[in-house]
Amino acid sequence: MNTIDFSGKTVLITAAGSGIGRASAELFASHGASVIVNDINSDAAEATVKSIKENNGEATAFVTDVSKPENVDAMIAFACDTYGRLDVMFNNAGGSFPTPMLDIDLDEYRRLMALNIDAAYFATMAALRVMLPQGGGCILSTSSGAGISAVPGLGVYGVAKAGVIALMRSVALEYGRHGIRANTISPGAMETPGLVSWLKTLPGGVKDYNDAQPQGRLGRPEEIADAAIFLASDNASFVNGAVLPVDGAVHSTLWQPL
Ligand SMILES: NC(=O)c1ccc[n+]([C@@H]2O[C@H](COP(=O)([O-])OP(=O)(O)OC[C@H]3O[C@@H](n4cnc5c(N)ncnc54)[C@H](O)[C@@H]3O)[C@@H](O)[C@H]2O)c1
Repeated sequence: MNTIDFSGKTVLITAAGSGIGRASAELFASHGASVIVNDINSDAAEATVKSIKENNGEATAFVTDVSKPENVDAMIAFACDTYGRLDVMFNNAGGSFPTPMLDIDLDEYRRLMALNIDAAYFATMAALRVMLPQGGGCILSTSSGAGISAVPGLGVYGVAKAGVIALMRSVALEYGRHGIRANTISPGAMETPGLVSWLKTLPGGVKDYNDAQPQGRLGRPEEIADAAIFLASDNASFVNGAVLPVDGAVHSTLWQPL
């Protein structure tokens, strides 16, 4: 196992003002990376940058809505202008609140697809255009258990998150021989502000949800960050097109009637 060292490397993480993205930004920075911290929320992005700098790391915020392709192109250009290269593109933005599929109108469908697959697709294309002439790079995307198995109320989100997996696999196959690796992380239920705010609306709240997990608890954002830095590191040099569940065994379960 090589020591993980991202000195001299640039890592761009979307939705890095909170949860998984923030934990990942802090971890990559602590291993020497220069991090572009994207978020749609300026205060959140700046808070992540501040935390990284307080720990003597290097980071710059880029506030934009990554669900719009033109913003994504500007974000990649900003990363290259700021730090001169792009080594890791981490497509992490996404999310959905459970809604029955028939209650999702066309506007909401388009919004969910724009956030959960278009953002990853266009950022990946823009990143490839930088990484290929550079001689290589690494692309990571956050999918979801809902992209592997069906979850009631997360049908449209699941379609998009399954697309993320297909996207990473296609990139791995088409560009692997050009030094590009593309992998997916599939988180289980993680204790992030987004999930916790939804759990609090449920009758049993966070406690019942914790108890229902195979490991008896939600995951921590830092546990996804650990997977991300492994996949982006040279220790994963032959890991390409993979889907890594980091979900405390949720993907191993088979639904059965009580
Ligand atoms: N938390 C979970 O349990 C869980 C489970 C499976 C998958 N995921 C996936 O993990 C990823 C991160 O989720 P999280 O729970 O850490 O997030 P979170 O809810 O903690 O934070 C989301 C962040 O995304 C930002 N954001 C929202 N829309 C954006 C946009 N259009 N452009 C840029 N930034 C935007 C928000 O401002 C916020 O800072 C998402 O792709 C989500 O689908 C999360």
